[in-house]
Amino acid sequence: MDTSIGIGNPIDRVEGHLKVTGMAKYSSEFPVDKMLYAQAINSTVAKGEISSIDTAEAKKQKGIVEIITYKNAEKLKTPDKKLPPLSTTSIQPVLQSPHINYYGEYVGVVVAETFEQAQYAARLVKIEYKKETPKIDFKDHRSDAYKPKESSDYSRGDVEAGLSKADEKLEATYNTPIEHHHPMELHAVIASWENGKVKAYASQQMINDAAITISNTFQIPKEDVRVIAPYVGGGFGSKLHAKQHVILAIMAAKKTGRPVQLTVTRHQMFTNTNLRQHNEQKVRIGATKDGTLTALAHETLSHTSTYEEFQESCGTVSKMLYKVPNNKVTHRLVPVNLQTPFAMRAPGEATGSFALESAMDEMAWKLKMDPIEFRIKNDTQTDPSNDKPFSSRLLVECLRIGADKFGWDKRKMEPAKNTNGNWLVGYGVSGASRAAPYQETSSKVILTLKDGTVLATIQMDATDIGTGSYTIIAQTASEYLDIPVGQVVVQLADSLFPVTPGSGGSWGAASYCNGARVACENAIKELKQKLNAGDKKMSVKELMTANKLTTYEAKGTAKPSEAFKEHSVYSFGANFAEVWVDKDTGMFRIKRMLNVGACGKILNPKTAFGQIIGGLTMGAGMVIAEQTRVEPNFGNFITRSFADYHVPVNLDMANVEVVFVPEEDKIANEMGIKGIGELGITSVAASIANAIFNATGKRMRDLPITPEKLI
Ligand code: MOS
Repeated sequence: MDTSIGIGNPIDRVEGHLKVTGMAKYSSEFPVDKMLYAQAINSTVAKGEISSIDTAEAKKQKGIVEIITYKNAEKLKTPDKKLPPLSTTSIQPVLQSPHINYYGEYVGVVVAETFEQAQYAARLVKIEYKKETPKIDFKDHRSDAYKPKESSDYSRGDVEAGLSKADEKLEATYNTPIEHHHPMELHAVIASWENGKVKAYASQQMINDAAITISNTFQIPKEDVRVIAPYVGGGFGSKLHAKQHVILAIMAAKKTGRPVQLTVTRHQMFTNTNLRQHNEQKVRIGATKDGTLTALAHETLSHTSTYEEFQESCGTVSKMLYKVPNNKVTHRLVPVNLQTPFAMRAPGEATGSFALESAMDEMAWKLKMDPIEFRIKNDTQTDPSNDKPFSSRLLVECLRIGADKFGWDKRKMEPAKNTNGNWLVGYGVSGASRAAPYQETSSKVILTLKDGTVLATIQMDATDIGTGSYTIIAQTASEYLDIPVGQVVVQLADSLFPVTPGSGGSWGAASYCNGARVACENAIKELKQKLNAGDKKMSVKELMTANKLTTYEAKGTAKPSEAFKEHSVYSFGANFAEVWVDKDTGMFRIKRMLNVGACGKILNPKTAFGQIIGGLTMGAGMVIAEQTRVEPNFGNFITRSFADYHVPVNLDMANVEVVFVPEEDKIANEMGIKGIGELGITSVAASIANAIFNATGKRMRDLPITPEKLI
């Protein structure tokens, strides 16, 4: 039993033993009676119409229970306008028409007694199409670019005037490719339908949002939908939203009258669970000789699908990170025949910071200024995009502390001057900021007193997507009830439990823990009130005993304060990278990285470290390997497995150090917590690209940076 009390200790994950012993049940693993297996079928054209469907051969196979296509699917709610914005709660109609919007779109589902039977029969369904010429690469269709309906365009001052006052100007374009989330656990669902009510074990990041999507798509009351996901093997944004496979499984369960399990295959994870879009970002910067920024423009061109709108706000970070009077941010989209992009870890910041922080490095070099001093020169304690003060902003401290620990003074300003045998050695830095949101969160605490020991059970619909939610919520309850962590049980991710915002946007830790805190505080307050105990200090055990209670329940809801709304609340950080580039082959190694974060109170240094190194690894992946390639004529993905979609391995990430600057931001929330799930990835790409420039003198503006680009 964990006898530690409270937050701040680097304790092991409370659910860790369940995971390593295989006892933790993921969505596809629940034992359900009379379960059927479903296999979805994907279109083999990117645009057109289904002209015929022949299921005869497939139906003849053993074990086949049902085959659903647009011809026999039930009618679902469909959007009433073109290009509705894709949100986490959007309806997800599927199999509603013969029209094909992208290669791999679901065109049918086979339901069988076994998984193998379903898979085999799915291949025997013959579908013919009337093909049309798809639009695939947005760069071939620039004239189709439009301003999104929910525009995030922004401007202050006059960028052109600011540029005309500059001594040095930079205009550069940066490209980040299509990437995929690929959590270890595939998207999966077991759906059943009983007495008009849906129950779904579904691997989702946000339980309440998933229930809303299901209820809206099937037009049934939300109270009749139960979503359960006690363990989620990663999401990175791909599981924020209940996608079409969830709807397919529920549809199949309704039609067959039996529970249906559907697992999205790794191949289908490329075509059916969204992606991070290819962004082309044009940055213009002006600065005077002393390093004062006079103008900054950040203009992004990207793509959405032909049926939904999603934009990754790459320019967001350029609005607020530096003090610059003249600023302009735009986003334009070209609809193409690919699935709709969606949020992937630090959507906007991870890609936008690559452009901004590379451009800042380029400008520093033009000015012959140290890139750290250039950033510090343009620091601000007021958010220039809305004139609100930052609740806390320790970016300068992150840069200074990092420089000191990293040995920045050993960096040579002039590129390609630091060599070691055949290696060119470079140092790079990047700043980082990520919003630290916090949302209304409810939870329930159930106290029991048995054999002289208090046990506390916390319930909320929060998820743990591998981040450590169970552990930090247990530590929070332990802190506010003043009992050992081992006496706290945390039950999550069931829509029967109180509503939370779920795991996304780096708001999980702050929201969940404050929600749990209020429930615990309410329990103590209520137990004291019953005794008229006033301010008297009493333990939970004393309170239960004095009240002659063996069990007691309390609820609580936490929400952002007025002070939160009056401030800009962000986490800040800096990443330092040392890169060695082989002179002849262009092969490079990330020798070491140091990440410094000022991200509020650290609830558990061990799980926090895990969050940051996870982000750093994903950020390094953006630079060294990750890229989804699309066939430009047919619109199918060429990278369709881990054999060709590469991610970093341990050897690529040899030496990583993480430092947290002590910070307790009581404006952010009562517990002083800021999010860290997305801060880590945000600064990595630019720091490595900048180190490569320092090593070689070659400016790499297109990710990933593969060796052939360096020779
Ligand atoms: Mo995150 S991209 O909000 O899971």
